[in-house]
Amino acid sequence: MLSEDSDSSILVGALADIAVCLSDARPTELVAQDVLERAHLSIGASELAVWLDGGGELVRTWGAGPEEASVDELRAAMAGAAPGIVAREMSFGPRRVGILLARFGGDVVEPVERFLEALAALLAAFVANSERSRRLEGDLQIRMREVQEQKRFTETVLDLLPLGLYVIDRDYRITVWNRKRETGMQGVSRDEAIGRTIFEILHRQPEDVVRREFDEVFATGKTQQFQTESSASGALRTYRLSKIPIRDQAGVVTHIITIGEDITDWVEAREAVAQNEKLAAIGRLAAGIMHEINNPLATIAACAESMALETRVDGSTSQGAQDGAADGGPEYLKIIESEVQRCKRIIDGLLDFSRPRAQERQSLQVNTVVERALFLLKHHARFKQLTVQAELGTELATVHASSEQLIQVMIALLMNAADAMPQYGRVLIRTRAAPRGAKHVVIEVQDEGSGMTRNEMSRIFEPFYTTKEPGRGTGLGLAICHGIVADHGGRIEVSSEPGKGTRFTILLPMEEA
Ligand SMILES: Nc1ncnc2c1ncn2[C@@H]1O[C@H](COP(=O)(O)OP(=O)(O)OP(=O)(O)O)[C@@H](O)[C@H]1O
Ligand SMILES: [Mg+2]
Repeated sequence: MLSEDSDSSILVGALADIAVCLSDARPTELVAQDVLERAHLSIGASELAVWLDGGGELVRTWGAGPEEASVDELRAAMAGAAPGIVAREMSFGPRRVGILLARFGGDVVEPVERFLEALAALLAAFVANSERSRRLEGDLQIRMREVQEQKRFTETVLDLLPLGLYVIDRDYRITVWNRKRETGMQGVSRDEAIGRTIFEILHRQPEDVVRREFDEVFATGKTQQFQTESSASGALRTYRLSKIPIRDQAGVVTHIITIGEDITDWVEAREAVAQNEKLAAIGRLAAGIMHEINNPLATIAACAESMALETRVDGSTSQGAQDGAADGGPEYLKIIESEVQRCKRIIDGLLDFSRPRAQERQSLQVNTVVERALFLLKHHARFKQLTVQAELGTELATVHASSEQLIQVMIALLMNAADAMPQYGRVLIRTRAAPRGAKHVVIEVQDEGSGMTRNEMSRIFEPFYTTKEPGRGTGLGLAICHGIVADHGGRIEVSSEPGKGTRFTILLPMEEA
């Protein structure tokens, strides 16, 4: 036990020591224990403990003593009703933080009481502050978690978009790079892209061109859109690129979003519609012309025939003998007749294209059509040096169709395939059901021939479009195929690559059950 005067200076020193200790950066728990031990030693108490307000209850938190005390017990101690016990309220501003309690073997001198008073105040401030910083830390963590979640959510949205998307800042540095930009042949991972300049990432494109495109958006603040083609991911695809400015509150463009959309399917569908419209127009035109030409042709044919008959009946005694032309008369008549026949064949072909003549339709298997077409072509000279391979699907639905017309289509496609492979080569014919529950049966004819450019492909269904030498092709084959397949409610598609080969795909509607 300390004496009143002599040792109050020791207690002041101890308080200073404790104040330093309280400002330590160690965890609250360790600091508090340390402080209590030092104080305990300085005042020679038998017990020294801190009860903190744990939501209404006072709970012994540091130091020795009973685990829990009722508020009343502690209050009684504070009122000085319990001899040998000093209890001091620890309050910080208007708030009571807890109680500091010391038990002694004998009487308590005043300096010790004052010491405990000061200690209670110091500890109260310490506890309140560490609580506050803990709360702040907790708040900060919650905020950070929220920000992270928000960021992850935005990233997920951007990643799920079926578009390539990236954002650059005014230094052309990439700040956003979505999943779609990571995939594909030219894919660059996000980690690789973020923070680098766009020129480093798009190093295959000339820097000045890329820079000019962005600068225009930075300068004008207007969205730019253009279409481009690329075969970087294998086949040729069409993309629509949009560059969209992002402005800050002052209206200054700070970033640019670039969005790349694969619009190949859309472009192809649009071209197909245009193609069909064009063919329909040609069909109507052809039908009109045919009608006009058919009648005079019939007259010419009839005249030629009766002249031939007359020549045969009259022999060389006709008046024509004098003008010398009669010698060649029968020859000329033959030429007229064969030319008229040729015209008729062309007209028939055109008619088949513009409105295929209604043929009897029945329920049939496309495999039977393929087999019959192959049988007919088996002995054809052009097919001798080719390898023809058929992969016929099993359990295919039937189609309601004219077997004659479908055989005609198959023969036209196979003849074209043979023409595209003058030397050797392989034709693959495949029949299958259309995928994903589509109600079609599919026939494919694939060759390893010359292939076609996109431009050529866009014209092949036009009547009279041919690249074959005069006299070899009339250019009606595919036009007729198109007409027949369309008349059956189906469609015919083509894909081709120059030098590699061509694939025709015919889709016919499945017969209704
Ligand atoms: N399998 C193919 N490979 C490459 N090009 C083809 C193929 N099929 C068709 N073509 C191209 O399409 C054109 C038109 O074909 P289409 O069958 O309509 O007429 P054609 O074969 O030239 O003449 P026709 O069939 O009337 O005798 C061909 O001239 C050719 O250029
Ligand atoms: Mg042909």
